[in-house]
Amino acid sequence: DSSRLVLGIETSCDDTAAAVISETGTILGECLHSQKEVHLRTGGIVPTVAQQLHKEHIERVVQEALERSGVDPRQLSAVATTVKPGLALSLGVGLEFSRSFVRRHSTPFIPVHHMEAHALTVRLLQPVPFPFLVLLVSGGHSLLAVARGVDDFLLLGHTLDEAPGDTLDKVARRLSLTEHPRCSTLSGGQAIELLAQQGDHLRFPFRTPMGQTYDCCFSFSGLRNQVNTTIEKKEAEEGIERGTLLSCVNDIAAATQHTVACHLAKRTHRAVLFCKANGLLPSLAPTLVLSGGVASNQYIRKALGIIAEATGLRLLCPPAKFCTDNGVMIAWNGVERLREGKGILPPDADVSYEPK
Ligand code: KG4
Ligand code: ZN
Repeated sequence: DSSRLVLGIETSCDDTAAAVISETGTILGECLHSQKEVHLRTGGIVPTVAQQLHKEHIERVVQEALERSGVDPRQLSAVATTVKPGLALSLGVGLEFSRSFVRRHSTPFIPVHHMEAHALTVRLLQPVPFPFLVLLVSGGHSLLAVARGVDDFLLLGHTLDEAPGDTLDKVARRLSLTEHPRCSTLSGGQAIELLAQQGDHLRFPFRTPMGQTYDCCFSFSGLRNQVNTTIEKKEAEEGIERGTLLSCVNDIAAATQHTVACHLAKRTHRAVLFCKANGLLPSLAPTLVLSGGVASNQYIRKALGIIAEATGLRLLCPPAKFCTDNGVMIAWNGVERLREGKGILPPDADVSYEPK
């Protein structure tokens, strides 16, 4: 098989991940080390801790991905690594490792934009022609864009304050959900999804953000304030200590998740209408891609499904393991760039990372 091989490396946030894939999209070997449990215990990501953990694990993670693939570094056509956006200290570890790796093995280097990689992952799984509409929702980002090509994205909207995953993580922390017996090992978003299944989302009518703003941007901090105020009020009513509310946690989780879903759905609906009015999507089988860590939420998927159905779009959402950060999506971005000859640098190129 003469198919070219790409090693992908991801360290932009709290996952150290690597994968080797072939040009045809076959995953030959992958490895991922998650720092989630450490960060859950400290109540959020401490950048210096994330950096230290990336340093401790990157060598082994890349080694394992290579070993599982049976590929020798000299067989690689390129190494693709996330260089933006993300936490500076985390990005630095992946980039430093990659720079010395490509120099040692004389391999071409492909710097990868983390969000573009999230957006294109779907094309590894099935044929999705450009252009398509994409909604990316994670702990660090929320954005709507038209993917017009491998390195051609028309940004329609982004978050003005925090990302939806960040909001869910903060609400979960405020409710001390890691102390909850069913949620101790879950991320904030996962914990809220689980508890919401037993909750009544109508019990707390939170306002959907930006009802009067006629664009496709997002805002979640106002929702978080509403939720916090509700929690404080309940704690006061019951005369209990901060972070010990139990009585209506499921309802708060359900109402929060519902409001996030409504906000994402309404903004996406606007984006679809904008795209249609401006001829930005193909008339035949227009596609909406939903990805990022928050996209693994079934309630949110369903809400976006309703919008897609109502507007005649086909909704595609990669399986959860491809929605959250992983090495495969970075390797795949490398393949897409390799195929088009875009952004391929020599092994000794001077590359720096960009947190923003
Ligand atoms: O894409 P990701 O792994 O990392 C980045 O932020 O780039 O996304 C992680 C985020 C976290 O905020 C987590 O709470 C959220 O995705 N998340 C979820 C679910 N699973 C993970 N949010 C809602 N529902 C879920 N099932
Ligand atoms: Zn991500």
